[in-house]
Amino acid sequence: MTSLRKQLMVWLLPLYVVAAIVVATVTYYMYGNMVSFFMDNQLRLFADSHAAASGSAPALRPLTEHNVVEKGDMIVQIWDRNHRLVATSWPELDLKRQTSQGFSDVTIGQLRWRVYTMQSPDRTVQSAQSLGFRRHLVKSQALQAGLPVVLMIPISAIILWFGMRPAVRRLELISEAAARQDEHRLSELPVEHAPCEIQPLVLAVNTLLARLRNAFAAQRRFVQDAAHELRTPITAMSLQLENVKARIVDPASAEQVKQLEAGLSRTKRLVEQLLRLARQESPRPADPPVAIQLDGMLKFAIADFMPLADRRSIDLGYAADIDATVHANEDELRSLIHNLLDNALRYTPPGGIVDVTLHRDTGVVTVEIADNGPGIPSELLPRVFDRFFRLEGAETEGSGLGLAIAKNAADRNRIGLELSNRADGSGLIARMRFETATAVAPAAAPTATSATLATESAETAADPQEFATESPPSV
Ligand SMILES: Nc1ncnc2c1ncn2[C@@H]1O[C@H](COP(=O)(O)OP(=O)(O)OP(=O)(O)O)[C@@H](O)[C@H]1O
Ligand SMILES: [Mg+2]
Repeated sequence: MTSLRKQLMVWLLPLYVVAAIVVATVTYYMYGNMVSFFMDNQLRLFADSHAAASGSAPALRPLTEHNVVEKGDMIVQIWDRNHRLVATSWPELDLKRQTSQGFSDVTIGQLRWRVYTMQSPDRTVQSAQSLGFRRHLVKSQALQAGLPVVLMIPISAIILWFGMRPAVRRLELISEAAARQDEHRLSELPVEHAPCEIQPLVLAVNTLLARLRNAFAAQRRFVQDAAHELRTPITAMSLQLENVKARIVDPASAEQVKQLEAGLSRTKRLVEQLLRLARQESPRPADPPVAIQLDGMLKFAIADFMPLADRRSIDLGYAADIDATVHANEDELRSLIHNLLDNALRYTPPGGIVDVTLHRDTGVVTVEIADNGPGIPSELLPRVFDRFFRLEGAETEGSGLGLAIAKNAADRNRIGLELSNRADGSGLIARMRFETATAVAPAAAPTATSATLATESAETAADPQEFATESPPSV
């Protein structure tokens, strides 16, 4: 992934290098011309001053190689009218008397010299200066001019890094807002935080989010309306089927009606689950959480399912070490427990055992529903919460929505929900963890058995179904 800051630096770096080279080159040529002009002038003045002097040859201050090569001191040579060298400030230099007057460049060995020759009737005066010294002077000046630009590279990197921090932070705020979105809550991204270059993008994303929101709402409305509209004809069909059933005597027709009844029952279940899912996902705020005694709710749920357990000869047991108060939406918590119980009872073969326990696990209030049915292959466990997911070849009827509804309810009420196969592979355990629940040990430590619950069931259980189905209560 490319970082904007790094990208900017990558662009700035060659820019600075080119700028440094341009500055150094321009300085080299401009300063070189200036130095030549200025020093040539000095050479000329120097020679002129000695040419103007009358009398015998003057005593010249002797120079060293260091003065000449490193410091650029000017050498003076004087010849008399007979072209005899009478004075020189650096005798080591074998610089011949130039025949033409004026400036010339002379190479002696490795070194080059700028020479000015001045001839008068009495004498010839030559002044010379190392061209190497001049080049060195110009070069170092050019480098000095380019240096500040090179220094700008790290300084710009630091300024860029810290200067872009607020802009990067604002982008992070937008990404955090985007990460918080899900299909149930699609709110607009904060456009006021966006740098103006990014604002059109954020506005476009907000428009897209609004369209998605409308599309999701339309889809939910459609499912809810369709499921709702289907309930009345299905109920009417069930009633009519009951009437028809009463009049059928022929065994073949009775078998066909039985199949029709089973199909109708499946349809009812699907419509009911669809309606429940659509309601759960409705943007309408759910009822506020209320304090619920888990022990009581579990007992009622088990009582509701006792007829199904009896019909399937399943030993449905309940044991509670503690009682606990949870704060949750009552309907959603009931739906969660009912869906898990419904699965345990329907997927466990007749004669099986389903145990419900309420206890504390590593300090957290936990409800477990353990069955001794076939379990779920571990590689499919992560997919069972998907809508319409059913295990291939499952003989038990179902719509594949129960666990999706349960997971939704658990998430909305911050209840941990996990399914795992028993260690010995002898069934499935559905575990609900109530992190925020407050547990109390029950006063009389009652452990409900299937027998006591069965009695309770008969006395207390109201019909929880939204419309009459043959077997399990509304989940
Ligand atoms: N206790 C269980 N033991 C074995 N398999 C299970 C158990 N619970 C769920 N499953 C598998 O997971 C699948 C998904 O379950 P889910 O409750 O979502 O849908 P369903 O039971 O098929 O339909 P419904 O919407 O009527 O509940 C089931 O079809 C079943 O194959
Ligand atoms: Mg189910």
